[in-house]
Amino acid sequence: MYVRKLELTNFRNYSKYKVDELESMNIIIGENGVGKTSILESIYVCSLARTFKSNDDYVIVKNNTDYSKIKIELDYQDKTKKLDFTLTSIGKKTKINNNLKKRISDFICQYKVILFSPDELRIIKESPNTRRNYLNIALAQINKSYINVLNKYNVLIKNKNDYLKKVYINSNMDLTYLDVLDSKIAEYGFEICKLRAEYIEKLNKYIKRIFYKFRRNDTLYIKYNSQFLGKSVSEIVMLLKRNRSNELNLGLTKTGIHRDDIEFLHNEVNAKDFSSQGIQKLILLSLKLAELEVLINDYYEEPILLLDDLFSELDSVNQNSILNNLNKNIQVFITTTDINNIKPSMVKKAKVIELSRRDDSNE
Ligand SMILES: Nc1ncnc2c1ncn2[C@@H]1O[C@H](COP(=O)(O)OP(=O)(O)OP(=O)(O)O)[C@@H](O)[C@H]1O
Ligand SMILES: [Mg+2]
Repeated sequence: MYVRKLELTNFRNYSKYKVDELESMNIIIGENGVGKTSILESIYVCSLARTFKSNDDYVIVKNNTDYSKIKIELDYQDKTKKLDFTLTSIGKKTKINNNLKKRISDFICQYKVILFSPDELRIIKESPNTRRNYLNIALAQINKSYINVLNKYNVLIKNKNDYLKKVYINSNMDLTYLDVLDSKIAEYGFEICKLRAEYIEKLNKYIKRIFYKFRRNDTLYIKYNSQFLGKSVSEIVMLLKRNRSNELNLGLTKTGIHRDDIEFLHNEVNAKDFSSQGIQKLILLSLKLAELEVLINDYYEEPILLLDDLFSELDSVNQNSILNNLNKNIQVFITTTDINNIKPSMVKKAKVIELSRRDDSNE
C-alpha cells in the first residue's frame, strides 16, 4: 500500500501543496518550521480522520481560511484509490473514489499508519489516559468492531456515573438499574480487555528482540494492567458487585477497563519513572517497530511508516540499524533538517522532497 500522490489545500502552513511519484522511501528535508511534520500529519489525518497533534482537529485548518483539504492517491495491488478528506467548522467530509462516505468509519483505515514522533513520547511519560488512547488507535486499525464496542462501553460508564451521582444525592433510589448496567459493562469490558491483552501479547512477541538490537544488555516488556484481566464475564459481574458500595460512596465508577494502563518495563522497572530520556525514545521506537511487525506478520498488512525527526532522536549507529532493517515493502516517510544525517546510499534510492520557506504554495 503506497501513497503515490498527495495534495493539500489550506493545510497548516500550506495554501496549496502537491507532490506525486512518491516512492517507497521518501525523505522530506527543510529547515525548522517549514512544514515537514505537517506533511506526515496530513498522511496520518487521511488515514485516521484525526490529527495526532491536538484533541481539536481544527488546528490543521490554515489560519484565516475556513476549510482544509487532503487528497491522496493510493496504489495497492495494481489498483489505485482516491481519498478525499475535508474539514470545515461544520465537520468532516470524506470521499473514496469520489463517492461520499457518510460515516467516518467507512472512510478510515484505507491504509494503516505507524507514527514515530517526539510528540508521541507522551505515551511513555504522561497519564494512563494517553496510553489508553494509544491502545485504542492501534486496535482501531486492526479491528473494525473495537471502536464500536468501546463507544458502547463508554456510554454505559457515562450512564452509570450519572446514576451513581443521583443515588449519592438520594439514597432511596432503586439499584436494579445499576445491575442492568453492570451486566452490560461486564460483557463489553470483557471483550475490550481480551482484545487489548491479545494485542499487547503480540507486541511483546517482537519488542524484546527489537529493543535488544539497541541495548544489548537490557530487557523490555509491556505489562498490561486491567482489573478485568484474566476474568470471565461472570467473574467481572461479581467484581462489580463487590465494588458497588465503594462506588456508591464515591458516586463514581472506579471499576472497569476505562481505568486500564500499560507499563513499559525496562530491566523489570517502569520506564516512566526510571529510564533516561534517551532510553525512553528507544522504548518508544521499539514499540512502534513492534507495532509494524504485528501488522505485517500477524495481519498481513503493509502499513506506512511515518518517522518524524528520527535523526534528532538517535545516534547514527541506531539510525542505520533501523533503516537497514526496515521491510522493503513498506513505504516510509522520514523528515530531517539535514540530508547529511542520512547515508548517501539510502538517499540515492529515495524520493527527496525539499521544502523551502519562501512560499507556502508549490504551485
Ligand atoms: N493552522 C495553521 N495555519 C497556518 N500555519 C500553521 C498552522 N499550524 C501550524 N502552522 C505553521 O506551520 C509551520 C510548519 O510546521 P511543521 O511542524 O510542519 O514544521 P517542521 O518543518 O516539521 O519544523 P521542525 O523542523 O521544527 O519540526 C510552522 O511554522 C507553524 O507555525
Ligand atoms: Mg517537525
